[in-house]
Amino acid sequence: MQNLPLYKQLADHYLNAIRCGTLKLGDRMPSVRKLMHVHGVSLSTALQLCRQLETEGWLEARPRSGYFVRQPRRVRLIPAQEPTIGKIIDPAQFVGIHEKVSEIIAQGQRQVKCNLARATGGPALYPHQQLRSLTVSTLRRYPELLTKTITPGGNRELKAALAKRALDSGISTSADQVIITNGCIEALNLALRAVAQAGDVIAVESPTFYGLLQVLESLGMKALEIPTSPSTGISVEALELAMRTYDNIKAVVVVPHLQNPLGSMMPDQHKQKLVALCEKQGIPLIEDDSYSALADGDKIPTALKQWDHSGNVIYCASVHKILAPGMRVGWILAGRWQERVNMLKYAHTRYNEELSQIVTATFLLSSAYDRHLRKLRSSLAVQREKMAEAIATYFPEGTRVTMPAGGVSLWVEMPAGTSSRAVFDAALEESILVSPGLMYSNSNRFDHFLRINCGMPYTQDLDDAMRLLGRIIQHQASSKQHIAA
Ligand SMILES: Cc1ncc(COP(=O)(O)O)c(C=O)c1O
Repeated sequence: MQNLPLYKQLADHYLNAIRCGTLKLGDRMPSVRKLMHVHGVSLSTALQLCRQLETEGWLEARPRSGYFVRQPRRVRLIPAQEPTIGKIIDPAQFVGIHEKVSEIIAQGQRQVKCNLARATGGPALYPHQQLRSLTVSTLRRYPELLTKTITPGGNRELKAALAKRALDSGISTSADQVIITNGCIEALNLALRAVAQAGDVIAVESPTFYGLLQVLESLGMKALEIPTSPSTGISVEALELAMRTYDNIKAVVVVPHLQNPLGSMMPDQHKQKLVALCEKQGIPLIEDDSYSALADGDKIPTALKQWDHSGNVIYCASVHKILAPGMRVGWILAGRWQERVNMLKYAHTRYNEELSQIVTATFLLSSAYDRHLRKLRSSLAVQREKMAEAIATYFPEGTRVTMPAGGVSLWVEMPAGTSSRAVFDAALEESILVSPGLMYSNSNRFDHFLRINCGMPYTQDLDDAMRLLGRIIQHQASSKQHIAA
């Protein structure tokens, strides 16, 4: 809060007053003159405060009358349905998703006017100028960097910087424990290969990131899908039931913070329970922490790894979503499997190239990184609210969204029976790319969902695309109803 500009601190103050009903719908906001007087701020700060709340949809300006309290439409969005946790968990299956996902990804490779299928922020949200000048100065400092052989085991400065930054997530580790990887996806591959082999059963969240399903398929492993809440993440209760039902689970993979695609956040209590459960059952727990630095607020959520006292948690992360989508710097803390993962990394891809490691290390160690994260999170929060407002305005009745507390994606539940594949095809015809729900599970449970990117600045073009997408969904939803009738 202390780090927020004054106008934002005051905007939060008035937003709280609106949220708790002190300022009611239709009430007049104190005048700009009064705000200046009461808070001892300049005209520009008082105006910025009002404009901030107006942009977020909480105030409307009426000519010559001032600002009045309104309620954004997104507040009325109904949250996505919680999963039902039955007495039975569907058995594990070999993942047969690759063809479906590859076809959709291939179709999505074409140039589109509006890409809503990404899981990163827009390029302007990342510190491209600083990264460019760091790249140039690094090459000046190490003129032979690209022609000498690479430091074995990953760049020392980066490993030290990551160990230091991990303290923010509650993880205490040393540079020696950090293994640098090619993004989080290689970290996940290595973790799975270290603890399991072809034919083994891996418990995953349902829905889950399609990339993980592709990895499981490529390794010949089976996915056991565990019901997962759009707000609180994997159901530890359902996982416990699965462990009682099937005695052959070889690992559990979870994204505890801003899960892809749900955006859910596990409460600390659930995280502790999950770590203890896996430990007790002797089942390795793989933590994918790709998004936690994008959580709203000043504090990075506590990693599962913090509660790991026996090395049973393998922690995987990367800078892809938080610092540089164009760099493939990831890392893994492999706990008890450190030696095995080191060997697998060497056998798999050798060490990562060093230029991006040094650039990342220098940036992570500077205060520019903290400034970047603050700015990124607050831009994402504004963009997310605008996208939710557009969904509430343009999408048909029956649409549900659980607002995530951070991140770059919204998981949209369309009216029952609406096919995400049909919406994907129709939207692509209009040069709009969305990510259909059918990619996120081996089952067909999520066929009426879409994952929509909310990391782009909200422009008129984006508004036009959202309006059109709303019409497409409306059309698909009502033609489904006709068929059902
Ligand atoms: C949950 C999750 N894990 C892993 C990855 C892959 O990460 P990276 O690009 O760092 O390899 C992604 C990318 O979308 C993701 O959403």
